[in-house]
Amino acid sequence: MDLFDAMEGRRSCRAFLPDPVDEDTILKILRAGTWAPSPMNAQPWEFVVVTSDAVKEALFDEAEERRKWGQEVSGWKWLGGYRVDFLKSAPVIIAVIGDPKKTGLDSFLEEGGVGYQHGCAAAIQNMHLAAHALGLGTLWFTLFDRQVIRKILGIPDEKIPLALICLGKPVTSSPMPPRKDVQEKVRFIR
Ligand SMILES: Cc1cc2nc3c(=O)[nH]c(=O)nc-3n(C[C@H](O)[C@H](O)[C@H](O)COP(=O)(O)O)c2cc1C
Repeated sequence: MDLFDAMEGRRSCRAFLPDPVDEDTILKILRAGTWAPSPMNAQPWEFVVVTSDAVKEALFDEAEERRKWGQEVSGWKWLGGYRVDFLKSAPVIIAVIGDPKKTGLDSFLEEGGVGYQHGCAAAIQNMHLAAHALGLGTLWFTLFDRQVIRKILGIPDEKIPLALICLGKPVTSSPMPPRKDVQEKVRFIR
């Protein structure tokens, strides 16, 4: 698949078929994640691959709690109709865990380092594109309390659960949420 087609054609997937994803495919996608750039090549990511129904159920319960909380604090009505069932139906969930110690020189800044988060985000996007090129759907999911996710997945306090990637065969292809024209987002300094 042409890279530009992949970037344009990838969509967030929120409905998955139950077909399992084999381990070689999962590893291929994870390997694509590890080709991402990171500060000083520190590779600040770790992955936890979940296929257990019981663990997916626990992740779903947490997301539901957060959804209700989010609706309360934001007052956003759409959250009332937003369903997080994909956390149960996705055959695979990949938790991306960041290591704040692997963040490069910005760790010396007063406000602390965020380079590790950028590196993990690059890895997540690589995995999205790799999965799409393999005909699979993905969702970058972040509606959770980190402490709860640490408990569910057995992550130590010093590591940061940054995202859950839902992965599987998509039920249908989703329409493209519109993008603003790049001309609205750019300023050239010549
Ligand atoms: C950092 C980040 C966090 C996101 N968190 C969520 C999330 O918690 N739940 C969700 O349904 N989608 C989440 N998304 C997906 C976005 O909603 C989606 O990318 C956006 O609407 C554009 O749609 P597209 O991915 O189909 O192009 C997240 C995306 C990013 C990059």
